[in-house]
Amino acid sequence: MENCNCENMAKLDEVLAKHTGKPGALIPVLQQAQDVFGYLPREAITRVADKLSLPLSQVYGVATFYAQFHLKPRGRNIIRVCVGTACHVRGASLLLDSIRDQLGIEGGETTSDLKYTLEPVACIGACGLAPVLMFNDQTHGRLTPDKIAQLLK
Ligand code: FES
Repeated sequence: MENCNCENMAKLDEVLAKHTGKPGALIPVLQQAQDVFGYLPREAITRVADKLSLPLSQVYGVATFYAQFHLKPRGRNIIRVCVGTACHVRGASLLLDSIRDQLGIEGGETTSDLKYTLEPVACIGACGLAPVLMFNDQTHGRLTPDKIAQLLK
């Protein structure tokens, strides 16, 4: 059963009040809704569709099209493992295996305590340091499973 998001829904209503009736409001509203909730829960999407007088399918269509929007809760720490060619050749899959073993999550999943989200991503432009991952905003290179264990401590 989902907890009541009453406080966040009130904040969303404030956002919607500022944008209702304005053209091009959908994406900014979804961005701000995601800032409020940390992701876009179904109840928020439904409220946005209702208040902006848009079909629910259109709001879902936009929310699922853009990579910036997330329909599931995300962890407080985002681990992005590069699976681009250089990192793949130098063992990105070992990093993913190591993280999966330690946290019990696959790519695209979040730990049940909402501490970590694991996201395989395309080249992040640090190929010389392969294999590479980003832990929140920090880039870590030349990684091994042992270094991953230290990073997650
Ligand atoms: S392939 Fe991983 S940083 Fe470029």
